[in-house]
Amino acid sequence: MGQAKSYTEKTLSENDQHNDLSDILPDDPMHWADAWLKEATAAGVQRNPNSMTIVSVSQDNQPSARVVLCKQFVPDPGYLVFHTNYKSQKALDFATNPKAAALLHWDALGRQIRIEGMVVKSPDKESDDYFATRDWGSQLGAWGSDQSRPIESKQALVAQIRQRGADLGLALATGTNTLLDENIPHIERPPHWGGFQLWATAVELWLEGPDRIHDRGRWSRELVRTAENGFATTPWTSVRLQP
Ligand SMILES: Cc1cc2nc3c(=O)[nH]c(=O)nc-3n(C[C@H](O)[C@H](O)[C@H](O)COP(=O)(O)O)c2cc1C
Repeated sequence: MGQAKSYTEKTLSENDQHNDLSDILPDDPMHWADAWLKEATAAGVQRNPNSMTIVSVSQDNQPSARVVLCKQFVPDPGYLVFHTNYKSQKALDFATNPKAAALLHWDALGRQIRIEGMVVKSPDKESDDYFATRDWGSQLGAWGSDQSRPIESKQALVAQIRQRGADLGLALATGTNTLLDENIPHIERPPHWGGFQLWATAVELWLEGPDRIHDRGRWSRELVRTAENGFATTPWTSVRLQP
């Protein structure tokens, strides 16, 4: 793999403990996955090292995939968090089928993480706290865009965002390049926008090796629901897979 290998060697610390799955598979894949995400972020391998593909399955069994940003990785008890519109297509899919899959891939590092599991909404307080950290434009966008629904033109979208901003009592700039006003107002989280937690039931770590002798470890466990948005977990069991 030539260039990618030398990039890995250059950008990952010499003390990196997470680049060898060749001997014994680790007990807990989520700590490894978390370390890989942190290392990809520290190495600045791409503009959004936390971007991941999320696959949902519709009521009529049609899978669909899209990129979202992984905003939190919680190895214990083992879930990741992304944020979206609760009326978007993916959210409608989760409402009828909460099983989902996530994929993170860093080509420059020769690493892939596959996660499968169950999606639940984040607690409101956590969504509120995250929303409060978002920039003004993103906050307004969460009110202004009816994500995944059709609209006749971009002009109509901008008019809709302006109208929603006015409805919120915001003084929006009249120029065409930005909606931002000089005064940064406080914007509440819209009830239709928030986090989802993807609780892992299966994880695969894939590590590129020379001569296509790649390492693949797959872990699985069970989730037992203990609350509306929480689970107890069984210990991970692992298996090495042929590449
Ligand atoms: C790099 C990147 C990051 C994105 N991050 C998010 C995100 O965090 N949340 C989100 O709802 N959409 C995000 N999107 C847009 C989604 O890919 C998608 O267009 C949107 O969520 C609507 O998907 P749906 O109609 O399948 O629900 C991102 C797109 C890209 C390319």
